[in-house]
Amino acid sequence: MEKETLLALARETARGAHCPYSHFRVGAALVADGQLYVGVNIEISSFGLTLCAERSALSAAVTAQAKNITQIAIACIDAPAEAPDYERMPCGACRQWIADLAPRATIYIDGCDQDFQVSDLLPFAFKL
Ligand code: THU
Repeated sequence: MEKETLLALARETARGAHCPYSHFRVGAALVADGQLYVGVNIEISSFGLTLCAERSALSAAVTAQAKNITQIAIACIDAPAEAPDYERMPCGACRQWIADLAPRATIYIDGCDQDFQVSDLLPFAFKL
């Protein structure tokens, strides 16, 4: 799928984020076996239970028995346009999820020119 099309879906998905505490909406859209799966960040009043958009989308794909995740787009639509790239990057937990569940995926970050492979985001990843 075209990178820009998947990023547009991630941005649109982010509009439905449940983030009453941070008001920082994140959307993720991924392609697996030719199908699309999306996720948003879901914040819980006990803050540590919050689920990031990336893990939300990966959960949807795994639940649907998707096997081969090839592309992931992530959009932090409340990051200011001038914000540094690190305000848009996946957190450490999501990087490990991506490494485990989408090891061959190309990752697109809305607002970053560079495309990423898992080895860029999480070198020397833990594996079993
Ligand atoms: N967030 C994500 O959805 N993905 C990340 O990789 C980083 C952070 C969410 C969690 C929380 O709801 C908000 O962004 C602020 O941290």
